[in-house]
Amino acid sequence: MAENQNQSRHGMWSSGALFVLAAVGSAVGLGNIWKFPYITGENGGGAFLLVYLICICAIGFPVMMAEIMLGKQGRMSPINSVLKLARDNNRSPMWSLIGWAGVVGGIIILSFYAVVAGWITYYVYQLFSGAFSGADSAATGAAFEEFTGSPGKLLLWFSVFMAVTIFVVARGVNKGLEIAIRICMPLIFVLLVVMLIYGIAQGGFWDGFNYMFHVDFSKLKLNGLLVAMGHAFFTLSIGMGAIMAYGAYMPQQESIKSAVGIIVIVDTVVALVAGLAIFSIVYAHGMNPSAGPGLLFVSAPVAFGNLPLGSLFGGLFFLFVAFAAFTSAISLTEPALAYFVEKTNVKRWKVAFLLGSATWVLGLGSVFSYNLWEEFQPIFGWTIFDLLDKLTTWFFMPLGGLAIAIFVGYFLPWKKVKEYLEIKSQWAHYVWVALICVVAPISILVVFALTIVQHFLGQ
Ligand code: PHE
Repeated sequence: MAENQNQSRHGMWSSGALFVLAAVGSAVGLGNIWKFPYITGENGGGAFLLVYLICICAIGFPVMMAEIMLGKQGRMSPINSVLKLARDNNRSPMWSLIGWAGVVGGIIILSFYAVVAGWITYYVYQLFSGAFSGADSAATGAAFEEFTGSPGKLLLWFSVFMAVTIFVVARGVNKGLEIAIRICMPLIFVLLVVMLIYGIAQGGFWDGFNYMFHVDFSKLKLNGLLVAMGHAFFTLSIGMGAIMAYGAYMPQQESIKSAVGIIVIVDTVVALVAGLAIFSIVYAHGMNPSAGPGLLFVSAPVAFGNLPLGSLFGGLFFLFVAFAAFTSAISLTEPALAYFVEKTNVKRWKVAFLLGSATWVLGLGSVFSYNLWEEFQPIFGWTIFDLLDKLTTWFFMPLGGLAIAIFVGYFLPWKKVKEYLEIKSQWAHYVWVALICVVAPISILVVFALTIVQHFLGQ
């Protein structure tokens, strides 16, 4: 079927602003709220932040521009968009492997992301119902253990989250994704501000600020650098086709570079504000922030359980996290969904149902990683959950990003790319070429090699 250059058969975002909002929705998720605050605190606060911002500018920004451009030019699923551009420019069809990595990577990420999102959904209900009123960390810790130790409960909440996600994506770009984005995004922003104000009102703001922004270069180790780059990919949803799939539905007149500028800035600001809000609340109750799942599921419930109006604000807080996870989850299926619809011409809702079922089965591995199969650690002492998480964040996303940078930088004509990206000044073009051909690929390669050495050979 011949595709019109300016339209996608799957639908189009109704405006440039909606594309930006959808991409921000994909970018802002559990990565910003759960992971970012504690990796910042752990790796030297302001010092880590500096490295992270450099990664965002040097790698995240150019790779995101390249990825959205591929989608916007191809107007199809990531596999077929890359295939089209490769063919048009007499390049090997093997480049479409970039799209394949996205199809597989998206499903894998969704399978464990939805498990954590399921926990969050359960906690919305727990907090609103006042389950943690007056609790201490021994109690919330035991409650979390009890919850994750129960396969039935985890399965239920994971399934609920998956069902809602699949229901929405099955309805299509305009009747599904776009409606969800129009409803969720304003709520996410409002709730974020409410949380920050609540945190400030409880008096823990400066302690939280200090924890996140104190500059301690002695805490910034090599590992911090690796974490910063991995996180730059994860938080911006780049390197695995999700943002490329969204780019395929972007209106023709919308400029890629300004869109990417806004997406990157909003994603970073949300991560910073969310971190400040969480730490203010945790410190307000006189606690020290814990790392990892403990921060959201153990420390935060104690703080809310003991602060004024804590059940209400705690419920709202988890609702905010749930919405943020949801607008990310819906972008994870799009590469695979669009591809199989193109390939088979089967109706979108049927493909969505089949993909959802396959993801659900894969997700069982992550659900049971916390209980029935806790002991099953096939390699490196990792559970299935760890394995899928590391496989995607350490391999799929950086390697996908590297392939995107190399394809766009070396295998597409510079002149065409310049035109697609609407780069006007010669000077800006030099910067672009330097970033996509040299800075991004070399940084990704170096960090990737160091990750492999550190984790696999250095043990
Ligand atoms: N960016 C999302 C987050 O920060 C996760 C995500 C990764 C979403 C890749 C889509 C694609 O939580």
